[in-house]
Amino acid sequence: MVVEVGVGLIGFGTIGSGVAEIISKNAGLIEKRTGVRIVLRAVCDRSAEKIKLPGIDKKIFTADYKKVIANKEVDVVVELIGGYEPARTIILEAIAAKKHIVTANKAVLAKFGYEIFERAQKNNVNVLFEAAVGGCIPVIKTIEESYSSDSIRAIYGILNGTTNYILTKMGEGMDYREALKGAQEFGFAEADPSFDVEGKDAAQKISILASLAFDARIEGEPLTRGITDITKKDIEYARELGYAIKLLAVAKREGGLIDLRVHPAMIPISHILADVGNEDNAVLLVGKNAGQIFLSGKGAGRLPTATVVVTDIVEMGSRGRITQRNFEKAKMKPLSQMRSRYFVRFGVVDKPGVLAMITKILGDAAISIAAFSQKEVNREVVPIVLLTHEAFEEQMMKAVSLCNKLDVVREEAVVIRIEDLAQPLLD
Ligand code: HSE
Repeated sequence: MVVEVGVGLIGFGTIGSGVAEIISKNAGLIEKRTGVRIVLRAVCDRSAEKIKLPGIDKKIFTADYKKVIANKEVDVVVELIGGYEPARTIILEAIAAKKHIVTANKAVLAKFGYEIFERAQKNNVNVLFEAAVGGCIPVIKTIEESYSSDSIRAIYGILNGTTNYILTKMGEGMDYREALKGAQEFGFAEADPSFDVEGKDAAQKISILASLAFDARIEGEPLTRGITDITKKDIEYARELGYAIKLLAVAKREGGLIDLRVHPAMIPISHILADVGNEDNAVLLVGKNAGQIFLSGKGAGRLPTATVVVTDIVEMGSRGRITQRNFEKAKMKPLSQMRSRYFVRFGVVDKPGVLAMITKILGDAAISIAAFSQKEVNREVVPIVLLTHEAFEEQMMKAVSLCNKLDVVREEAVVIRIEDLAQPLLD
């Protein structure tokens, strides 16, 4: 038996046009493989007059999203405009009209996901959003289905394609600006790339994964740091020490608290996550009984993301059940309890007593130095690199900001957490 799914596409930008292209080219193949016939019933965009879809009747194009929602032949509304509004309103109105939702919008889910899921359950419709996190990696499906009988203890992810591309290219000798330009040209970066490079995009994604994995309504914002102060030199130093630098997203359940954060991290070069290069994303899930599952693949880009959106549409055609998502309030681990080992690089004046000033500040903050090196360069300002033993994040940041105020410190410290990614203890 063939099941027909009428699709109303809202947003015809990079991903939306990719979705339409895949449906036009592959609808026959999809039907043959799955028994789901996808029919594009309406396409909505602010610039509806500019939409070009060979072989598709122009009558289905509109600039009015309400027409898409009111269309009786539309079963699934695919929201691909991104951002908070009008995306939230469109999704809620579509749910009220009993339309299933497919979206790639991590921002709206990170902020309004609980409200959206609750309304969807009340209205007996599904909300699928595989493309919102990790590009084409099936991480949502894995968390919600593969681990449905287990409990996830930790998630480690590389969840932003743009920053992973930039760090990879910087490791190959490219400048930060040039690498960011490349990511923008390839279409990986957000419209405002500060979302990528400041870690906000990855923070939204790990928040969504943590809520699903821990069935948690998490209060507060994750600790979020970006990659803007990382230099090619830091990547080189890290490599010499046996580490790779990645923008790492972490979600761990620790007792009653959730440790949720995104920041650059030095991870052992031999770890599987260190091999994830360019715009690829990866997720390492640690379950209580099932152990570890590692997923990786294209984390950004038009067709990889559009492919997953279409997969969600196909899923709508084969689903007989409404996903139940119920979240219990959970508190985030406070900054005051966060501890790590750190890599710190300062640019300092090369003269007697400088090191003593820095180590005094660190010592007064109870931060113990594990290793130190000064690169012998014939310049007035020289880099010094310190590795610390485990220290509290707050104390570390306070001490570093005191060091930065010293006259002899000419380039402010770059501070990178060291994550050994040993298998967490599972109780
Ligand atoms: N800007 C995002 C990234 C796109 O670079 O990963 C996918 O969410």
